[in-house]
Amino acid sequence: MAPGLTTPLSIRDVTIAFGANMATRSISFDIASGETLALVGESDSGKSVTALSVLKLLPPTARLAGQILFKGQDLITAPTAELRAVRGNDISMIFQEPMSSLNPVHTIKHQIGEVLAIHRGLRAAAARARTLELLDAVCIPDLASRLTAYPHQLSGGQRQRVMIAMALANEPDLLIADEPTTALDVTVQAQILTLAIAPGHGDAVHHPRSGNRQNHRRSRLRHDRRRNR
Ligand SMILES: Nc1ncnc2c1ncn2[C@@H]1O[C@H](COP(=O)(O)OP(=O)(O)OP(=O)(O)O)[C@@H](O)[C@H]1O
Ligand SMILES: [Mg+2]
Repeated sequence: MAPGLTTPLSIRDVTIAFGANMATRSISFDIASGETLALVGESDSGKSVTALSVLKLLPPTARLAGQILFKGQDLITAPTAELRAVRGNDISMIFQEPMSSLNPVHTIKHQIGEVLAIHRGLRAAAARARTLELLDAVCIPDLASRLTAYPHQLSGGQRQRVMIAMALANEPDLLIADEPTTALDVTVQAQILTLAIAPGHGDAVHHPRSGNRQNHRRSRLRHDRRRNR
């Protein structure tokens, strides 16, 4: 880690199991402030479950051991209320499937506006202006008319981009993305990764306030014993 960088996230010996199936064994890595970390590994090596474990979004059948320190606090043992505050304000997650984050009965404007009102205190004209900025950053065309659209009225790629805009709306300290651009065509993938996320990764755990494009690292998960190296 470069000198002077603080460590918002420190994963220590995290083991995740589903019954006898060890999804990960003793995974450890750190993410410093301003840094992007890509978790790479073949299918089934435990990338998604590791990403989900940070916000304790694993199903109840999962056993989770180790430490997940966020700004020094262990999220594994944190009380539910504190975990909820971290989820809403400090860490955002982008999933591969946009409908897991979008509400089908609300317009795009309503959904992004709600995040901006709750987390940034923006309402009315200020919220609309910021919503347009966010949609522009993730390359949604014909912005004004898209504001009143419902998720089902958008293409799959547009839904994915709206979800990314929503995750960026609360300006999280840490953005976790699990294959955020798989549903997009390659040109748009490149735009999104350059403009809104970070260059060049499929599964990525990312710090969005990075001004320093040099701070990119990768950590590889091995499939055989699901350890990192
Ligand atoms: N809800 C679940 N119940 C039982 N086992 C699960 C569950 N979710 C994940 N697993 C298991 O955890 C292991 C790791 O899965 P994970 O989804 O993290 O892989 P991955 O590295 O993200 O793969 P891919 O690249 O295909 O997305 C797999 O053996 C999988 O079967
Ligand atoms: Mg996965």
